[in-house]
Amino acid sequence: MKKLFITAVLSACCGAGALAMTEAQIDSCVNDLVGRMTLDEKIGQLNQRSGFGYVPEMAGLVRTGGVGSILNETDPEVVNKLQREAVENSRLHIPLVFARDVIHGFKTIFPIPLGQAASWNPALVEEGSRIAADEASSVGIRWTFSPMVDVARDPRWGRMAEGYGEDTYLTAVMGVAAVKGYQGDDLSAPNTMAACAKHFAAYGASESGRDYNTTWIPELQLHETYLPPFKAAADAGAATFMCSFNDINGVPSSGNKVLLRDILRDSWGFDGVMVSDWGSIDQMIPHGFSHDLREAARQGIEAGVDIDMESYAYCSHLRDLVEKGEVKEADLDPLVANVLRLKYRLGLFENPYVDMTTASRFYAPASLDAARRAVEESAILLSNSGILPIKNSKVSKIAVIGPMADAAYDQAGTWSFDLEKDRCVTPLAALREMYGKESVIYVPGLEHSRDNSTKGFAAAVEAARNADVVVYFGGEEAVLSGEAHCRVDLSLPGAQSALLDELKSAGKPVVLVIQAGRSLAIAHEAETADATVFCFHGGTMTGPALANLISGKANFSGRCPVSFPRMSGQVPIYYNRKNTGRPAQDMTLINDIPLEAGQTSTGCTSYYLDAGDGPLFPFGYGLSYTTFSYSEPKLSASQIDTDGSLNVSCTVTNTGEVEGSEVAQLYIRDHVGSLVRPVRELRGFEKVTLKPGESREVTFTLNPDDLAFFIAPGRKIVEPGEFSVWVSPNSAEGNPVKFNVVENSLTLAK
Ligand code: GLC
Repeated sequence: MKKLFITAVLSACCGAGALAMTEAQIDSCVNDLVGRMTLDEKIGQLNQRSGFGYVPEMAGLVRTGGVGSILNETDPEVVNKLQREAVENSRLHIPLVFARDVIHGFKTIFPIPLGQAASWNPALVEEGSRIAADEASSVGIRWTFSPMVDVARDPRWGRMAEGYGEDTYLTAVMGVAAVKGYQGDDLSAPNTMAACAKHFAAYGASESGRDYNTTWIPELQLHETYLPPFKAAADAGAATFMCSFNDINGVPSSGNKVLLRDILRDSWGFDGVMVSDWGSIDQMIPHGFSHDLREAARQGIEAGVDIDMESYAYCSHLRDLVEKGEVKEADLDPLVANVLRLKYRLGLFENPYVDMTTASRFYAPASLDAARRAVEESAILLSNSGILPIKNSKVSKIAVIGPMADAAYDQAGTWSFDLEKDRCVTPLAALREMYGKESVIYVPGLEHSRDNSTKGFAAAVEAARNADVVVYFGGEEAVLSGEAHCRVDLSLPGAQSALLDELKSAGKPVVLVIQAGRSLAIAHEAETADATVFCFHGGTMTGPALANLISGKANFSGRCPVSFPRMSGQVPIYYNRKNTGRPAQDMTLINDIPLEAGQTSTGCTSYYLDAGDGPLFPFGYGLSYTTFSYSEPKLSASQIDTDGSLNVSCTVTNTGEVEGSEVAQLYIRDHVGSLVRPVRELRGFEKVTLKPGESREVTFTLNPDDLAFFIAPGRKIVEPGEFSVWVSPNSAEGNPVKFNVVENSLTLAK
């Protein structure tokens, strides 16, 4: 009798109206519910299916509790119809959660995450994610498979587009901002979405930049480079994680107990949901890790993959595995509990339906304004002879050329599933608006980014001849980056480079604007153009933002979130590299080597005969319409203990004629260690906006964890010795100041 009474009370408090429940209340409800579920109902909660439309098979599955979450449904009417099957017609009335890849906006598309990283403005990332959550939740999507926090150092990998670049610290900061934006302060609010830190882990280390490829990573590098952004996301309260397709040192993530249980659950204390990637449990068969789907299902459960996305492994084999004693039903309960906890945290038990009176909230003026600002802050001015800005008064004719000038669909970039391209404002439209239609001559010159035909060149060159200045929009179509879209030749696709040369021969200044999903090898093009702008696919408001920047109505403040190679063969390339025993010096490049040169005549140091050493444009680099100066960093001490902290301050001054924003970057170097350390490591940054002549002191604090490095998996130490610290405009410039770290005197006394 007593148990019945307790159950009745719990059901009452769990099922209806207890908004913003405490974790303790949620746990009670979850435990009570799991205790009342049949094996089939438990398996159903671990099953995620992709669905489009209200189809009888899916409705039936929902009604019988055979599916716990659905991805890709975006019609609020259908969401509510399926949700009604779950909440009103299933035995235990457990609501569904609807998910979607809302990667950089739902309808109002923001720059791809790599572009957002180029803004070096976490507040902007958070704002964009907040807007995405509001739009997507307005059709019933309460779970997004974002942020992707895979560190990527190889632009051959198409998915570099979806992450925040090559640096662990920058990726962590931006990933946390996205989590906060999606989830807000109260995940049970109906206009939020559960975030999903993906792809756990080290997917960005796919060998040779080929997607889905193996990763072979020293354990210390896994802990030092690839895991910290995930740890930061977990600490920020990311409600879910997604395991990655790749194997790590031979063990696919979907069956990786060390990764999913020892590190994520036991060491980090993560209590959210782990969802597989699409079919990744099934893919353990071709990986050669599972003999068949039944074994893959068991391995997924043992590793702790809560939800099977589209492998049909759990729904096909878990009942049999339990009946044959190969999996204990009790072992399913914690996984089911994770799923139910997510649904309670989302408030779905209290508030399962889309409010149709406020459904489909898209394109608010403030959202479009934010999307435009995001592009303005993420576009990077790589070079400028002075031709930019193009003041209205300076020109009467502008030739707008190139395959990306009016590419409404492609300017949105990869993972823009819900894009409405007719809402995209292209650079051509915006420039016509800005300078007047009669001042703009438009000739594409190429039909699309991969076009190799030169038949459009003559008209383009003619337009250039008749103009005062040429603005040439090149780059990559959206399909050339993103999942499964890797490229080994990182030059501009098609005949874009040849067209640039032709345009230059017309004798007019050429501004090159590149829209792409990755860093590219554009040494020749940057050399040829009079100014080069790089805009990682900017989304809906790319046009107005680029028009504002080109005209000087806005000022550039984007900085490279990845290093740009001089040549494709240089990758992987990244700033926080090791110095090696023979750092590059006295380089003799290939065209300078005399005939029959002696074996050692070009020196024996670490560089390429054909590409030299270092990037074309370094991590953190970007120009402005103004200039900035940095004072020598001031340190709060010249020596600290191994457990001490150090304050670093520096005065940044706008030494130019117009207002601008600068990203002051804090780097350190540990000069000697029991393991060699990188030549620089980003440990902080601050974006400051300064009027002409204005100065601002930026202050950072270096804590022990900032100076520490992994000496063993999960164990970081600070070693005594000499350090350098920079506050600089990018990873290649600036004058360091040294300080010393000494053993803690107390430690020494022991
Ligand atoms: C894809 C991607 C993953 C995405 C998922 C659902 O294959 O790897 O990032 O979230 O499937 O679409």
